[in-house]
Amino acid sequence: MAAGSESVSTPHGRRGVALFGATGYAGREVARLLGAHPAFRLQAAFGGKERDGVPLSAIHPSLRGSVDMACVGLDTNGGLDGAVRALAEGGLDVALLATPEALSLALAPRLLDAGFRVVDLSGAFRLARSSDYPEWYGFEHGAPGLLGGAAYGLSEWSGGTLGTARLVANPGCYPTAALLALLPLRRAGLIDPTEAVVVHAVSAASGAGRKVREDLLFCEIEGSVRPYGLPRHRHLAEIAAQTGLVPGAEVLFFPHLAPIDRGLLCSIALRLRQGAGASAVAAAFEKAYAAAPFVRLLGEGSLPATADVRGTNACAIGWTCDAATGRAAVFSAIDNLLKGAAGQALQNLNLMTGRPETEGLPR
Ligand SMILES: NC(=O)c1ccc[n+]([C@@H]2O[C@H](COP(=O)([O-])OP(=O)(O)OC[C@H]3O[C@@H](n4cnc5c(N)ncnc54)[C@H](OP(=O)(O)O)[C@@H]3O)[C@@H](O)[C@H]2O)c1
Repeated sequence: MAAGSESVSTPHGRRGVALFGATGYAGREVARLLGAHPAFRLQAAFGGKERDGVPLSAIHPSLRGSVDMACVGLDTNGGLDGAVRALAEGGLDVALLATPEALSLALAPRLLDAGFRVVDLSGAFRLARSSDYPEWYGFEHGAPGLLGGAAYGLSEWSGGTLGTARLVANPGCYPTAALLALLPLRRAGLIDPTEAVVVHAVSAASGAGRKVREDLLFCEIEGSVRPYGLPRHRHLAEIAAQTGLVPGAEVLFFPHLAPIDRGLLCSIALRLRQGAGASAVAAAFEKAYAAAPFVRLLGEGSLPATADVRGTNACAIGWTCDAATGRAAVFSAIDNLLKGAAGQALQNLNLMTGRPETEGLPR
């Protein structure tokens, strides 16, 4: 076992989980949720090499008293095989990757070969075709053979596929909010295909992670809202793939950065198919989410805000319909670090392992 990690025995019967990227924002939320999860426990927490031996609660002071284990520094220059081998020898078989795409691409094949089941929070396995990666992510995919077997983990729409999945690609934060709002109408055939769907979205600064960037300094973002990532933000590819709409033509995506620490709001404009109206829209949402514990349907005319879902794994959805123009607008709000990242990852882990979907997750 690598230095600094806890014993891999599982006292109290909770199954041990290895977490890579524990020192980042998404990793912090995974660690926090695992700290209180009745069935899983954080057993090995990895960060960058220089973090070796540093208590996780010194890196994330909000974890003090709940997650006090030491961080393991990951040596990406030749140390990955040894780290994975040590975890497997210690009896672990579940890993969560809250890491950038490049590191997820290096880790996932090794973990899968060693018998692990993996939930990856990055975009490394979200697109089905390796040929899409150079265009949308700017790199050639290093493990194209894994894409076909990766399950897309939009929990509410995963249709029972997660129970047998070995590799789950956790959706991006924007796609989570956009798809939860769009898929009920799209699958019910209520969207007029001759007009583009416009997804306008606003995200918190934590969506960009904890690494230092000049354009994300407090003085650069405070008191201002700005669009970014245009014209083809990588999450557009994911939204388009899951809806079957052509990116940039049938679906448009305008992400914005807001000076808030967490939260994400989508406002989606579309034209309804002729003959479809408010009752069909309401029926589609109710049918899609009747048994979805984390989707809060606010109904027509009731609009969500990021503050309403902060600190929860919920997605709140409201909408408006205009009978005069045949247009509808759908609004969805999530906490980008929970339903948009760590919360959905644990929701997926629950579904992968036959646990109750809501276990260990704030609603
Ligand atoms: N933030 C969100 O709202 C959000 C939502 C959905 C998905 N995601 C995805 O989740 C992943 C993590 O995002 P984040 O926001 O948590 O990013 P972050 O705050 O920047 O954290 C990245 C983590 O990866 C680790 N890491 C990076 N390079 C490494 C290396 N060479 N060796 C070892 N560890 C390394 C970092 O460790 P050190 O800092 O210790 O080096 C850190 O723990 C990303 O793929 C992101 O796209 C994020």
